[in-house]
Amino acid sequence: MKPILVSGIQPTGKLHLGNYLGALKNFVELQNSGKYECYFFVADLHSLTKDCEPKERQKRTLDVALDFLAAGIDPKKSVVFIQSQIPAHSELTWILNTITPFGELRRMTQFKEKAGSEEAITTNVGLFDYPVLMAADIFLYDAAFVPIGDDQLQHLELTRTLARKFNAKFGETFLEPKALLTPAPRIMSLDNPTKKMSKSQPEGSIFIDDSPATIREKIKRAVTDSYKTTAYDPKNRHGISNLVLIYSAMSGISIDKVIEQSAGKKYSEFKEELAKIVIKSLAPFQAKKKKLSADAKRVSSALASGNKIANSVAGKKLLEIKKKIGLI
Ligand code: TYM
Repeated sequence: MKPILVSGIQPTGKLHLGNYLGALKNFVELQNSGKYECYFFVADLHSLTKDCEPKERQKRTLDVALDFLAAGIDPKKSVVFIQSQIPAHSELTWILNTITPFGELRRMTQFKEKAGSEEAITTNVGLFDYPVLMAADIFLYDAAFVPIGDDQLQHLELTRTLARKFNAKFGETFLEPKALLTPAPRIMSLDNPTKKMSKSQPEGSIFIDDSPATIREKIKRAVTDSYKTTAYDPKNRHGISNLVLIYSAMSGISIDKVIEQSAGKKYSEFKEELAKIVIKSLAPFQAKKKKLSADAKRVSSALASGNKIANSVAGKKLLEIKKKIGLI
């Protein structure tokens, strides 16, 4: 049997180049490698931690599902599903809550960043508990591998801790999953390249749906530095290094080669070439998404069959867990 791989993306906004290069593009490559049994889902339960109009939430959920399919996730090769349609995710989260130390969740960097200084008073409990839901997502499918960007590594480490804790208490039940990172696991914001590109910071993001003109404009405005020569030195020259990394990840050309090719070019010329590469690489995805958007039946039937398979797999695992802990 092939090892199992699971990953999800939240429908909290349009997907950007970070999501694409850190996760989605890799999902497709991993699927096509034929080495794994793949499960990919839209993490709409996770998105509840952020306010959104119900209609808009539904729209975004469908939009991320469309992104999956348009990027090349093939429902015949991978199980594609919507997290909230699989009740076992919520149920296992509660069970895992009861073995999760409060202190472990309290130290999660993403929680601290999102909750800010108002942490104790106004933040919803879901945001705090978010990594436990993520562990449930992974355990229900016995995943050995989880393709993610590096901002999710700490959450995966917690998942591994919970696996050890549960197994020690109730016997071998969960695998300790490993992360699969891409060569671009952390794409930075274009307008503030010391911060990661994020759905909640549209100003610094290139969205994979952006038009060629918007992409060109955003790259033109991207923050660089006063050195004038391209280089890859992410510690000291954040802006230009980020652009070089995007160039390399979108084109498949190594970072060294990108630097070599751009020797002697002005930043403006390099940016113009980068824009061309990004526009060209996203074109097939954008064309396919347009086609799929007009074929609602195909998308909904792919999701219905993915939900059915996921429900059956996750339901069986949940039964095994319930037996172990004495619920049945
Ligand atoms: P989310 O929706 O924030 O991001 C989706 C994926 O994109 C990666 N990513 C990035 N990669 C590189 N550079 C960036 N700037 C960047 N920003 C985001 C993320 O690391 C992620 O892989 N909690 C997850 C979703 C989730 C999940 C799971 C993932 C829920 N359950 C179980 C794996 C397994 C999240 O919020 O990702």
